[in-house]
Formats: sequence, structure tokens, C-alpha cells
Amino acid sequence: MNTATTGGIRTALNTKITATRSRLRAATVGRPGWSGKAWRIAAWSGFRVWMFARGLGTWAGKHPLPVALGALLAVGWWGVLTLAELPGDRTTGPVLLLVVFLLPGLFMGTWAMLAPRRYLLTMYAWKVRDSWPKVAQSCGLSARRPDGTIVISRLVHVRRAPGAVVLRIETFTGQTPDDLYRAAPAICTAFRAHGYEPSKVKPGVLDLALFTTATIAPAVASVPGIENATPDNVPVGRSRAGLPACVQVRGQHTLVVGATGAGKGSALWSVVGNLAPAVPAGLVQFWGLDLKGGVELEMGRALFARVAYSNDAALPVLRELLAVIDRRKETMRGVSRLHVPTPGDPLHVLVIDELADLMAYAEFDVRREADRLMSKILTQGRALGVVVLACVQNPRQEAVGQRNLYPQKIALRLDSDIESDMVLGPHARLAPAHDIAGTEPGTAYLVGEDGMPSLIRFDYWDDDLIRHVAATYPAPALAASAPREGMDAVNAWARARGHLAVVDTPDDSPTDGPATEAAAVAPAPRPRKPRAPRKPRAPRAPRAPRAARPTASAEEV
Ligand SMILES: Nc1ncnc2c1ncn2[C@@H]1O[C@H](COP(=O)(O)OP(=O)(O)OP(=O)(O)O)[C@@H](O)[C@H]1O
Ligand SMILES: [Mg+2]
Repeated sequence: MNTATTGGIRTALNTKITATRSRLRAATVGRPGWSGKAWRIAAWSGFRVWMFARGLGTWAGKHPLPVALGALLAVGWWGVLTLAELPGDRTTGPVLLLVVFLLPGLFMGTWAMLAPRRYLLTMYAWKVRDSWPKVAQSCGLSARRPDGTIVISRLVHVRRAPGAVVLRIETFTGQTPDDLYRAAPAICTAFRAHGYEPSKVKPGVLDLALFTTATIAPAVASVPGIENATPDNVPVGRSRAGLPACVQVRGQHTLVVGATGAGKGSALWSVVGNLAPAVPAGLVQFWGLDLKGGVELEMGRALFARVAYSNDAALPVLRELLAVIDRRKETMRGVSRLHVPTPGDPLHVLVIDELADLMAYAEFDVRREADRLMSKILTQGRALGVVVLACVQNPRQEAVGQRNLYPQKIALRLDSDIESDMVLGPHARLAPAHDIAGTEPGTAYLVGEDGMPSLIRFDYWDDDLIRHVAATYPAPALAASAPREGMDAVNAWARARGHLAVVDTPDDSPTDGPATEAAAVAPAPRPRKPRAPRKPRAPRAPRAPRAARPTASAEEV
């Protein structure tokens, strides 16, 4: 059976399970009123009782001797009293005896009942530690020395983290970190973990997080906070450990790849929406190409200084952006090697939805020109403060020939392991994007410049929120209609030197886009030295007459 078929069956099964679960939920604990409340109390109590039994049972399974001895003595006590027909209480004594023998088990049961998550994670960590020598050998992390002894990679310690246990593993002499990375998928499978994330601690030492949760719960985005609007670390959702997940925008081009319905819209709006407060301050300027006729970007049109919704209209936008790069080269030469956005001199972010439409499915001439312009923007723009966030369904060569020019990649659900390979290259084995379930849109592997993938889930942005954010933080050219409170907050933030420096902006500084209201936010312009008048040019000497060219060359011309 090929991968596509198994993938299809798995997706169909997952969908069925999810549907059944939600039906059951709706009929029981999700019901409104008293009936729902009764179901919820019953489910809660049942779960706690089950956890108590599980804690006690697990301990008893591991310590059969005290259990058997306790049971034997208790039954014996009861039997003697009964058979001999002695007077007195025949229950309290044997029960107390049993309790004494089962005391550690009762303690474990109570712990499991009161803190089930913590209990399960600790049990898992103990299991990992106990079975490490066997697993390490089976996963190829061992070697036989010439004297016959077997060495295995040392498990320094196992610690708990939210939703995961983290194994610190050390290489032995003769082993390389690459051996550890190669063994990571096998270790993950051996411990029946839902996923893994390796991270380097120091040379020869690796932290391998094994996740005990299969999915990251979905969350809906909220109105972005002004303090978050720094393009160095835009909070876009949550990691598997439940911590905020951030994407770097400044100094990075980002390629977002995902099958249809994988949640590229969430990725796009999580970046654009969270950076929105920096737009009216003149610190970030969005340019939009929505090659699906504007269906996605029109929702937040006010955030964008320029948009184009067709392939032909996209080319002038790309040319204009290239002109920004050329102007920046002049102003930044010898001054700075990485552009720092300031009011009136913004970070330009080109947001593209459905890049393949322009790069692969357009007319030949348009495609060629788009390829030329995009190559220039991608190779020259990063340090000059012009970055690209491009979303695409199809990662194949003809659609994204320039994927190597994007240092940061976000792989949402993909159709096959071949596509994961195409997008993530050597990192694909650590980031199996084709394994992300169709029922978890917005879940993605984020691979930064360091090549370490991490699983994140973008927050969901609904249409109303996008419209509201766009109306609150419109691009300066459209700011006249902005609600006053939003603008005041942005201005206060810009003046208070939030996350980005606010510097004087000379009134003749080259403008990279439409006139910005941010000029009003910026401090008074510095007086400028009047320019010396140009020297008149010396008249050119008349050219010498050209020698006649051979006919063949003339034809070539
Ligand atoms: N972060 C998320 N959390 C929960 N659900 C999401 C999330 N992102 C998207 N969805 C759901 O998945 C659906 C499809 O998402 P979206 O339109 O962003 O996909 P897409 O990748 O842009 O697809 P296409 O390529 O066809 O445009 C949404 O309508 C929404 O119901
Ligand atoms: Mg889309």
C-alpha cells in the first residue's frame, strides 16, 4: 500500500473518531443545564476513581510480594477468628493489616487521583530511565569495544517538562551528535511518544524531548497587544509544551507551505495581525500579493500599503519593492549592515498568498519577470529591511524554485514525505509534516536558521477579528479613518521607545512608500545643510566616427 493510500485511510479514520467523540460529548458532558452538569460530575468522579485504581494497581503489579503477604496475613487473621469462632471484630484487624502492607500503593493511588497529569508524566519518565540501556542498544546507540565490553550513550538525566519528558543524552568516544539525531525517531517510537524535538546542549550532549501529548489544542487569537508588535519575535501561537511560539520576521524571509485547508491563513494572519500595531506607527509596512483574487487579504486590506490581486498587477508591486531595496542600499552603505526599523523608515514585509500562481501557473513572460524580481528581493532584501512571507500549497520545484532562499520555513500539513523532504531538506526526518493530521489545521513545524524544528500551532484568526484589527491599526495612508484610541496607544508606545528604537527622522529622508502619518509621531526633524549647487558639466567631446561592423554582427543585433 503506498503512502498516499495509508495517509488517506489514517485521515478518514481520524475524522471518524473525532466526529464520534464530538457526538458523544454533545450527548453527555456538553449538554446544557442540569443534565450536562450531572454528566460532568459523573465523568470527573469516574476519572478520579479510575486514576486511583490505576496508581494502586501499577504499584501492586510491580511489588507482588508485599501484596501477597498482606493478603495472606489478612485472610489468615480473618480465617482463624472465624474458624475458631473467637469473639471480637473480624474486619478491622485484617483491613488495617492490609492497609499497612499496601501503604505505598495507596499513596501512589492518591497521588494519581489528585494530580493525574504529573503522576502519568513521572511514571513515563521512570519507565524511560529504567529501559534506557535496552532501548539505546536497540536503536544503535551502542558499540562493542575491542576488549568485548559494550558501551552505550549515557543517559545523564530525565526531567519532566510541560507535556513532555526530556532525556539528556551524552555521546561516547567514537560517536557523533549525528548518530544521536539519527536514532531520535527510533527512540521516540520505542517509548511510544507522540513526537520528539532534539536540541543541542553542548558539544556531544543533546536534549531529546519526547512528547506525551498528540496534539496542541486549538486557540483563537485575540486583539494583539502593542507590546508584542516587535518584528524580532512575533508571538503567533503555542508550542507543544504550551509556551508561546514566536516567529522572527525582521532579517528573515519565511516560506509557509501547507496542503489546502492546512491553515496557511492562520500563519499569515498570526504574523500580520500581531505586527499590526506597528503599522500606524510607521515601523512596519505591509505589501500584499493575493493571487487568489484577494479573497484572503481583502479582509484586512487597511493594514496594507499596497496590494495586488492578479499576476499582472503583482509585477509593478515587486518592481516598486525592488526600488525600495535600491534606495536603501544607498542610505545604508557604510552606516549599518542590518536595517533597524524606525518611524518613517519601516520594515517592509511582502506578504504573498498562493505564490505558485505567480511563479508556476502564470504566463511565461510574467513568470520569468516574477522569478527575476523575486530572486533579487530574496537575495538582497533581508538585511535591507525588506522581507518576504510567502504562502504556497505546492512546494515542488516549478512552484517554489527559490525555496532555498527562504532561511525560515513553516511546514503545515503536507501530502507526502517527498513534500516534507522538498520543503525542509535534511531537517525533514526531525519534522514529519506529512504526519500532521487533517483534523489539526494550523499545526506546523517551524524550522529556523539553526535547523532545529519545533511543532507549534498557530492561533486561529476569524474574519471579524481581522476586520477589527485592520480598522484599529490601518496603514498610515489609510489612517484618517482609524479610531483615535488605537492611534493614541500606538503613538504613546512609539514615543516610549517600546521594542524598537525611535529616532529623529530627517524630513528629506528617502520615502520608501506612501506618505506616512508616522512623521507626526516622530520627533522634530533635524535642520539640514543646504546642498551645494551642482557643477555644470563639461561639454562632451564629439565621438570619433565608428568603423563599419561586419554584416553578421549587425544581423545579430
Ligand atoms: N489555527 C487554527 N486552529 C483551528 N482551526 C483552524 C486553524 N487554522 C485554520 N483552521 C481551520 O481550517 C480551515 C482552513 O484554513 P485556511 O483557510 O487557513 O487553510 P489554507 O491552508 O489557507 O487553505 P487553502 O490553501 O485552500 O487556502 C479554516 O476555515 C478553519 O476552520
Ligand atoms: Mg488560504
